[in-house]
Amino acid sequence: MFLVSTKEMLRKAQEGGYAVPAFNIHNLETVQVVLETASEMRSPVILAGTPGTYAYAGTDYLVNICKSAARRYHMPIALHLDHHECFKDIRNKVEAGVKSAMIDGSHFPFEENIEMVKKVVQFCHGWDCTVEAELGRLGGVEDDLVVDAKDAMFTDPDAAVEFIQRTGIDSLAVAIGTAHGLYKEEPRLDFDRLAKISAKTDIPLVLHGASGVPDADVSRCIELGINKVNVATELKIAYADALKQYFIENPGANDPRHYNVTSKAAMREVIISKINVCRSADKL
Ligand code: 13P
Repeated sequence: MFLVSTKEMLRKAQEGGYAVPAFNIHNLETVQVVLETASEMRSPVILAGTPGTYAYAGTDYLVNICKSAARRYHMPIALHLDHHECFKDIRNKVEAGVKSAMIDGSHFPFEENIEMVKKVVQFCHGWDCTVEAELGRLGGVEDDLVVDAKDAMFTDPDAAVEFIQRTGIDSLAVAIGTAHGLYKEEPRLDFDRLAKISAKTDIPLVLHGASGVPDADVSRCIELGINKVNVATELKIAYADALKQYFIENPGANDPRHYNVTSKAAMREVIISKINVCRSADKL
């Protein structure tokens, strides 16, 4: 088993009416707990890393850890470039073995976004790497990317059709009211807009900013055509809160082999719950 693109797993999700969860990972422990859990539940899974994560962990480390994991769990694994903005950076990582990339040109005007995405698609498809792009703009905080709520912009369904045709992307991230990071109040998703985008397009659609979105809303998004659900913040919180609690209860602790155990267990609960919401268990 080896690293794969998201083509096959998202195609199957589209056919089966479910979503593949994409969990943001940061280090060996986060990769381990995501894959242990996904493998036990027989769920396809995408491991996502922002530019900050690859810089922190090292692209070579991440690629090789994920390759080893694919062999260990006998499952295809998609290691994904989440919110990458630079062609050269994507090229280097694809050449290093990554087969799934998001090029985020959502901050550019429409035509510039298209030009940037087309260039990435042309390169990536030559390497059997799938490409996701975003149209419209999510608010919130992801990595070093901070988008103020007033700058967030919903995806226009007609523009989405043109964007997909002209870029040749494999999946589209839509902005329908979710945001990265924590919500100050319950998000109000524009399901009608999602239904329109879904009716007019035929590639898998991606929901970013799923942390903190009620399960029923995520389910409804999946019914309306979302095939990839991105989760980062809820996992970070589970990891960090369990770690803090561990040190409160064990102030003298200093062994990562011990203090990481409860953090991984806390993450596992989130992963199980998201796989259930995505209805991706037993789809391997
Ligand atoms: P959350 O941090 O809100 O879960 O968003 C994750 C995400 O969309 C990654 O691209």
